[in-house]
Amino acid sequence: MSESVNESKIENSTDDRSAGISMETSSTTTTGESEEDVREAWTNYRFDGEAKLSVENLDVWYGDDHALKDVSMEIPEESVTALIGPSGCGKSTYLRCLNRMNDRIKAARVEGSVELGGDEIYDANANLVELRKRIGMVFQSPNPFPKSIRENVSYGPRKHGDIETGLLARLLGRDDTDEEADLVERSLRRAALYEEVSDRLDDNALGLSGGQQQRLCIARCLAVDPEVILMDEPASALDPIATSKIEDLVEELSKDYTVVIVTHNMQQAARISDQTAVFLTGGELVEYDDTDKIFENPESQRVEDYITGKFG
Ligand SMILES: Nc1ncnc2c1ncn2[C@@H]1O[C@H](COP(=O)(O)OP(=O)(O)OP(=O)(O)O)[C@@H](O)[C@H]1O
Ligand SMILES: [Mg+2]
Repeated sequence: MSESVNESKIENSTDDRSAGISMETSSTTTTGESEEDVREAWTNYRFDGEAKLSVENLDVWYGDDHALKDVSMEIPEESVTALIGPSGCGKSTYLRCLNRMNDRIKAARVEGSVELGGDEIYDANANLVELRKRIGMVFQSPNPFPKSIRENVSYGPRKHGDIETGLLARLLGRDDTDEEADLVERSLRRAALYEEVSDRLDDNALGLSGGQQQRLCIARCLAVDPEVILMDEPASALDPIATSKIEDLVEELSKDYTVVIVTHNMQQAARISDQTAVFLTGGELVEYDDTDKIFENPESQRVEDYITGKFG
């Protein structure tokens, strides 16, 4: 099928040229709907190294609304993968599939396969607590708990029973206070926040600025030692300076973690990601490739129209 699409596209473009019609006359509408067929080759991204996540034939419905359509995608480890596309195209839906957060949405039905390092996360026996330890998530609005900075960072390891502190722990001879202090410092350093908060670790986290709160949420996510970090527009509520700190941090984290980031900001995707997946209206993955290729020479006319700002 893809071959015949290819031929007809070439034929059309030849016709357009011979008739003197500018290539600007694309059939894309203001919302990105068009006659263009998606070709498998456009999403079949090849890369060196291992895939951390392998997504196959993923579909999501909210009731009768088919929000994500047959998405297959391999996500390379220790790199930044950006997900871009117009509002409502399914980016958040897709991201939530990667750690089964859609399980929490009653109306959502997910079909397909997602493997994390070879383990099927949609297996009926999959351990969701373990899964969310391996795949952390950072949301658009910073959401620290109304607790101290220290407690925010050590929350996950305490919950998982990896750290015990307090009176009972002391009475039982399991006082991990020093271990907790190390972990808190290490996680805050990794999130590029330690220097700013080291003298007020017991202050309420809600007293931090928005950008600091977001880095705290990243530190909280790092404290459980995940393999993958999912970020849904983590900087969109922040000012340019706080945004650039988050961007630097994302790049730094990708040396050790697999980062998948949704962003509305095209320049941000171009700056920080290694590969970019473009979703368009209707929940389709249209093109997925090296970020340079997507921004400089995309295959899809609709992707080109989208990244050059013709719609979305
Ligand atoms: N909890 C939900 N219940 C019902 N429909 C939903 C739900 N969440 C998303 N949808 C629908 O699924 C489609 C995809 O939404 P999604 O939030 O994934 O898009 P998005 O690309 O993240 O958009 P944005 O850029 O605005 O955040 C939309 O049509 C949306 O209305
Ligand atoms: Mg979204």
